[in-house]
Amino acid sequence: MNKSFLDYFLKIRVPVILFVALASLTLTYYVSRAERDGVGYAPEQPIPYSHKLHAGTMGIDCQYCHTGASVSRHAMVPPVNTCMNCHTVARKNKPNIIRLTQYYNEGKLMPWKRVHKVPDYAYFNHSVHVNKGIDCQTCHGDIQNMEVVQQTNSWTMNNCIDCHRTAPVKLANIKGIKKGPENCFACHR
Ligand code: HEC
Ligand code: HEC
Ligand code: HEC
Ligand code: HEC
Ligand code: HEC
Repeated sequence: MNKSFLDYFLKIRVPVILFVALASLTLTYYVSRAERDGVGYAPEQPIPYSHKLHAGTMGIDCQYCHTGASVSRHAMVPPVNTCMNCHTVARKNKPNIIRLTQYYNEGKLMPWKRVHKVPDYAYFNHSVHVNKGIDCQTCHGDIQNMEVVQQTNSWTMNNCIDCHRTAPVKLANIKGIKKGPENCFACHR
């Protein structure tokens, strides 16, 4: 290798390569961070399903669709079947409902993008919270006014513990509510 090439490689190429590597690392970090606990995260969904219309204007109960919320760890996003209880008839000639029907007929899952997520090493359980009488809105914001679901709270450890410590004050509207656990093994099991 001749010297001037080596010089060029070390002085120009290496810094450029390092810069690009660093920049893309930082970017991936922030993007995945946003998906994990970013307040304001509101991914575009495969079909523009509106909570404002269904849960707000039409007043459909949250748990008509999110059937797991009071019985299990996950609230669960409904399968297309649930939508078809109405959409075999309602607006069936609209382009988005035609697409919805295609998923249904082909027996495919709708690829909804996940909005809220705590890391796997932390344990969160919906039913414990919901059955104590804590509203969905306390944690998720006014979903019934959202055209597109947006994350309104950050699920850092501090946030969980802060509510656990202050629950009797913060949730004074719920009769007899106790503090939540603050010991490590409650959430890291
Ligand atoms: C008719 C069915 C239906 C009803 C009623 C409904 N939802 Fe949903 N919900 C969905 C679907 C479908 C998704 C996934 C697509 C999206 O995010 O918009 C979803 C997504 C969500 C998410 C985000 C899930 C994630 O990926 O983190 C939350 C939180 C949520 N709903 C809360 C509520 C609350 C609170 C109510 C009541 C005020 C409600 N939903 C009523 C169907 C419904
Ligand atoms: C309880 C009945 C009911 C259920 C369940 C329901 N919808 Fe709807 N949906 C309606 C009605 C009625 C309308 C039309 C409302 C209007 O425009 O006044 C509508 C409108 C829509 C529209 C707008 C259609 C357009 O272009 O005009 C979309 C998209 C949609 N629904 C998707 C869904 C999805 C996805 C699900 C399942 C997660 C679902 N709906 C569940 C009753 C329902
Ligand atoms: C104490 C706070 C809290 C309450 C109350 C709460 N949620 Fe959640 N929700 C969360 C957290 C935290 C996550 C992320 C959980 C995970 O990644 O396992 C989540 C995730 C979700 C999801 C997507 C993932 C899943 O678990 O299926 C849906 C849908 C959802 N919530 C709906 C609801 C509905 C509907 C209610 C009310 C009936 C509700 N939540 C009440 C904190 C809460
Ligand atoms: C009320 C639930 C809860 C309790 C109690 C709790 N944690 Fe966590 N912890 C979480 C959640 C949720 C996360 C993930 C969100 C985050 O990164 O903040 C987490 C993240 C962590 C992390 C990773 C931090 C990081 O920056 O990536 C460590 C380490 C940890 N917890 C240790 C502990 C220890 C030690 C205790 C006891 C003193 C404890 N936790 C008690 C909920 C809890
Ligand atoms: C809005 C307040 C609030 C928030 C936010 C909240 N919690 Fe809780 N949590 C409670 C209360 C209140 C209890 C205690 C209920 C009781 O036993 O009376 C509880 C109980 C628990 C328990 C014990 C349940 C069991 O199975 O024994 C765990 C674990 C837990 N929470 C995890 C979490 C994690 C992880 C987060 C954050 C991602 C979180 N919580 C966020 C209020 C909250």
